[in-house]
Amino acid sequence: KNIAIFASGAGSNAQKIIDHFRGKGTVNVKYILCNKPGAGIFDIAERENIPAILIEKEQFFRGDTYVKLLQEANIDLIVLAGFLWKVPTNLVQAFPNKIINIHPALLPKYGGKGMYGHFVHEAVVAAQEKESGITIHYVNEHYDEGAPILQERCEVLSTDSPTDVAKKVQVLEHQWFPVIVERLLS
Ligand code: GRF
Repeated sequence: KNIAIFASGAGSNAQKIIDHFRGKGTVNVKYILCNKPGAGIFDIAERENIPAILIEKEQFFRGDTYVKLLQEANIDLIVLAGFLWKVPTNLVQAFPNKIINIHPALLPKYGGKGMYGHFVHEAVVAAQEKESGITIHYVNEHYDEGAPILQERCEVLSTDSPTDVAKKVQVLEHQWFPVIVERLLS
């Protein structure tokens, strides 16, 4: 099975997915696509010998370039691992129920535009939530509104800082995202 990973940042989730399938020969990370020059994910791609593509904005939102590239590569699943752009309709329609995303909170709360990364954990702490967690979901044309696949929870203590919450959530991300990718591809 072939997957393409889209990321915008450090790529720690991408690294965990790559590690999970190393040596198994069942899942091949065919491409890494990123919209941010210099993002850490490019170093991961280089080290792992995975073709990395810097996404060009106009093309991504208007052209069919990336859709054709991924179709010709027989991609079975597109994995958004910290990808901060909305996926354009043409890509969603070309890969129905084949694009998944991980969100560092318990959707539908703390979702939507601008709610990503540290902002999410700040909002959770500010709201004095007793728990947070991750949501892995299918991607449709709207931010974070696709059908949920898995939610896992972690406790939020009143003494927790947003960074404390981020650390607990990241443990869940790294533990569960590779498992879900494997489950969807088997
Ligand atoms: C994580 O918080 C993930 O939940 C969100 O973006 C971040 C990606 O982190 N989608 P990394 O680049 O995989 O380290």
